[in-house]
Amino acid sequence: MTWASTWAAAGALALASGSAGAAEPDASRASGAAAGSAGRFPDGFVWGTATSSYQIEGAVSEDGRGPSIWDTFTKKRGTIEDGSNGDVACDHYHRYKQDVRLIAELGCKAYRFSVAWPRVFPTGDGTPNPKGLDFYHRLVDELLANGIEPYATLYHWDLPQALQDRLGGWRSADTAKAFANYAGHVAERLGDRLKTIFTINECGRFVPFGYGSGIDAPGLKLPQAEVNQARHHVALAHGLAVQAIRAKARADTRVGMAENITACVPAIDTPENIRAAEIATRELNAGFLNVILTGQYTEPFLSWAGTDAPKFTAEELAIISAPVDFVGLNIYAPQAYVVAADHPPGFQSLPFPTSFPHMSSPWLMLGPEIAYWVPRLAAKVWNLKDIYITENGTSSEDRISPDGRIHDLDRVMYLRNYLTQLQRAAAEGVPVKGYFLWSLMDNFEWVFGYKQRFGVYHVDFKTQARTAKLSASFYRDVIAKNALRA
Ligand code: NOJ
Repeated sequence: MTWASTWAAAGALALASGSAGAAEPDASRASGAAAGSAGRFPDGFVWGTATSSYQIEGAVSEDGRGPSIWDTFTKKRGTIEDGSNGDVACDHYHRYKQDVRLIAELGCKAYRFSVAWPRVFPTGDGTPNPKGLDFYHRLVDELLANGIEPYATLYHWDLPQALQDRLGGWRSADTAKAFANYAGHVAERLGDRLKTIFTINECGRFVPFGYGSGIDAPGLKLPQAEVNQARHHVALAHGLAVQAIRAKARADTRVGMAENITACVPAIDTPENIRAAEIATRELNAGFLNVILTGQYTEPFLSWAGTDAPKFTAEELAIISAPVDFVGLNIYAPQAYVVAADHPPGFQSLPFPTSFPHMSSPWLMLGPEIAYWVPRLAAKVWNLKDIYITENGTSSEDRISPDGRIHDLDRVMYLRNYLTQLQRAAAEGVPVKGYFLWSLMDNFEWVFGYKQRFGVYHVDFKTQARTAKLSASFYRDVIAKNALRA
């Protein structure tokens, strides 16, 4: 399992034509002098953990929740490696108080969770189900009572099945409208206590995997033109939701998205390669982040897509690019090591050697430097003022030792190295405001079922016992010091 489709697109575009002028690297960020000193993060840096509804909640038929596309998908034979599903998952729906205590014990002051759309609107739109939103009222209250700020994502892939059946899911712009209606409803009802909202999580994953390769729900294998159109509808959904949230929420509500940005790194740190990595960051994220942040599909993107390019109107581009308050970036693995090219579009992505190191998930290549380069390049390319790392973490074998403990040294190594690079970015003035570790606890890892564990708390899925791993102690220590070193 890899991020193959994204990579294929990256490779194709890297070799495609288009022109881009050279520019100076950002001199204000050139000095690393402050970075090495104390390993400290800026005052007020937000430390959190992240989860999502289908991956942890369980209780899929309770209190009026409607079925989602993941309920349907997981019940089909051969879709999930261990044949499992999210029916029970971490049983968080019933154990949320205990789980909030786990967050508090880490010292986190923020928690990123997702709201399950089919709990709130069981058939996607129409009459809302008050009992569904009640759960999030209880969760938000519990978080606030424990001094933890709620950060809510509205779409983490659990589309109401009714919208898939009725409209073809994201193949239809009407799904975007239904999403905006749901977003406005949540913002209105929770807006007195919920101040930070992410619209969409990882369009760059669920569109190609759900509509292109069929690996994720709804399991479709559509031609590229339809995949591009679905992505456009998701971008439209984001823009319409931003508008709906602004219309319905309190004035101090902040809204943005959480995207698995294609992570580019200059292969060798020269001014020419850094400029090439900026171009690559824009072009390899042209289908979602760039159109949201600039209101344009770029020329190289459109010429690469050719007749498969999405159909759009100027009015839609204006909606899609409604101003956001921040950008959330999910970063795990490097995806493009870039060098300058004297042919358009001005960069070349180098092929990965098969010996490139990876974590226990084969797709999760180890590249701590993305935690420096990705926010730095994104801030430069899109002139961003507020960036959150909305996900970062790794799976690990997580064997329980005879002493009952989980010594996940590989996860600690991974986190230490990524956080070192993130601290370097912050110390150089890149506007990174917070970090959400994926994940609070082991959970349903989509096509891998429960085989890949990403939590800093181990979950025994037979007993639902939670046990802190070594990485939980590591993270607690970093948070307490707001620094990597004493
Ligand atoms: C990103 C997704 O948002 C999350 O749901 C998933 O579990 C992690 N990556 C790890 O693969």
